[in-house]
Amino acid sequence: MKTKIADLEFEPLIKSAAIEERIKAIGLQLNADYQHCIPVFVGVLNGSFLFIADLIKQIDIPCEITFTKLASYYGGTQGGLKIRDDIDFSVDIKGRDVVIIEDIVDTGNTAHYLLDKLKVKEPASIKLCSLLLKPKALLKKIDELKYVGFEIENEFVVGYGLDYKEMGRNLKDIYKRVK
Ligand code: IMP
Ligand code: MG
Repeated sequence: MKTKIADLEFEPLIKSAAIEERIKAIGLQLNADYQHCIPVFVGVLNGSFLFIADLIKQIDIPCEITFTKLASYYGGTQGGLKIRDDIDFSVDIKGRDVVIIEDIVDTGNTAHYLLDKLKVKEPASIKLCSLLLKPKALLKKIDELKYVGFEIENEFVVGYGLDYKEMGRNLKDIYKRVK
């Protein structure tokens, strides 16, 4: 069913049941990969808030969760090179195994920015986990991107945490722009 958000029209792309199933699989992978340590999950707000909440419930090994807030979009459908750093976190990640949790990797600028920033703090390891990836929009390969929920076309999406003009984050399914 189509839905309208502000001036744009969207139609369903990924149903909540499929998201749920994929998150369970990623959770299993993380539990196995990090059983030797106590990983620090760094959630990137706002877009990944639902993904983090659902993913973390699948983690059954000891872990820590913290958040950072970045913005690169300013409420439009076009990514900008400018990244605004709104909230930093206080956890000392030196020598720790870090997993960044993102909603979507589009151009990859935000991911590279955050990875460069966190690597300076000398974590033992650092990986990126993103619910969505737009491979055709990616400007520069991200070696740390190990966990991806779904690869999608170069299209604008909303729902399940992702917004258009700050709206649509509450939708259970992920929708793509049609008009
Ligand atoms: P990147 O820096 O171009 O990779 O963009 C990353 C950020 O832009 C994501 O964390 C999102 O917040 C936002 N973004 C990118 N693509 C979309 C989209 O299709 N819908 C909503 N937000 C998006
Ligand atoms: Mg984001």
